[in-house]
Amino acid sequence: MEEAQQIEEVALQELATLDDSKSLDDWRVKYLGKAGQMTLLVRSIGALPKEERSEAGKKINLSRKSLSDALDARTADLAARERAARLAAAKADPSLPGVAIEMGNRHPIQVVMRDIRSILKSMGFATAHGPEVELDEYNFELLNIPPDHPARDMWDTFYTTEGEVLRTHTSPVQVRAMRAHAPEPVKVICPGRVFRYEQVTARSESMFHQVEGLEVGPNVTMRDLLGVLQSFARKLFGDTRTIRVRNSFFPFTEPSIEVDVDCFNCEAKGCSICKHTGWIEILGAGMVHPVVLTNGGYDPATMTGYAFGLGIERIAMLRYRIQDIRHFYRNDLRFLRQFQSA
Ligand code: PHE
Repeated sequence: MEEAQQIEEVALQELATLDDSKSLDDWRVKYLGKAGQMTLLVRSIGALPKEERSEAGKKINLSRKSLSDALDARTADLAARERAARLAAAKADPSLPGVAIEMGNRHPIQVVMRDIRSILKSMGFATAHGPEVELDEYNFELLNIPPDHPARDMWDTFYTTEGEVLRTHTSPVQVRAMRAHAPEPVKVICPGRVFRYEQVTARSESMFHQVEGLEVGPNVTMRDLLGVLQSFARKLFGDTRTIRVRNSFFPFTEPSIEVDVDCFNCEAKGCSICKHTGWIEILGAGMVHPVVLTNGGYDPATMTGYAFGLGIERIAMLRYRIQDIRHFYRNDLRFLRQFQSA
């Protein structure tokens, strides 16, 4: 089939002169497109006498393949030249070593926060958030801490000129969450930053993090609280841990407890981490006070609840054996780089 060879020859000559993508595409349409010369030739095979068809078909296909291979090569060639031109225009020297992109890592507080949140999430707690600049009402009054009550001394804080406070704990989110769900049951955690008017020392900062837990329902008891805290402590500190409960006081829980876990460092034999007591205090908790349940919109005759609150810095200091809470917020990379999260 002479014609295929002729078209091929002309097309290849033409192709050699083209050097932009638009003309390459026009060329493709002209020869290989739906109504292109080579395509029409393929279609014409059917009109040939039977005995010629196979031979002609082979030749045409070879020519067509040669054209499309040539087009691919030319296209790649053109792209390479454009790249080279771009580099030259940018005056970049591609032989220079690149600028390494440094990977950061999570802040240790965020590492611990994520672990704690995922444990509690696996235990059925949803997440709720509240404002850091909080109304006195939510931070204190609705939590059964009236103005001038001596319990306020435990939570002295910063006040805005508008009479709001920087929340001293995540407990105000308890009432917010109850009001959002009452009279239906609620089971949430509230993670976040809290603030206190404190002398800053190795043990206390004026800003730190807490996670609050709250469950209110028709049959929620102290046993539910203890079960939750026991499995939480095991998931966080190890399968063999056990918890101990001491009585305590918070205006918004009754009864109130403080919870210790047996020392994961010395298996409760006594070491510097547990101050030779075998026990480490991890959180405060209790049954939600009827006044607080009422403030949240529940009838304390039919609904009960528990709440707990823990400090993240404290847990992080225990886990990583950090002696001074101020390290967390000094932005010293030599400190911060030591905590690689999974
Ligand atoms: N809000 C308390 C604190 O900051 C902790 C707490 C939370 C205690 C919930 C009991 C119940 O000290």
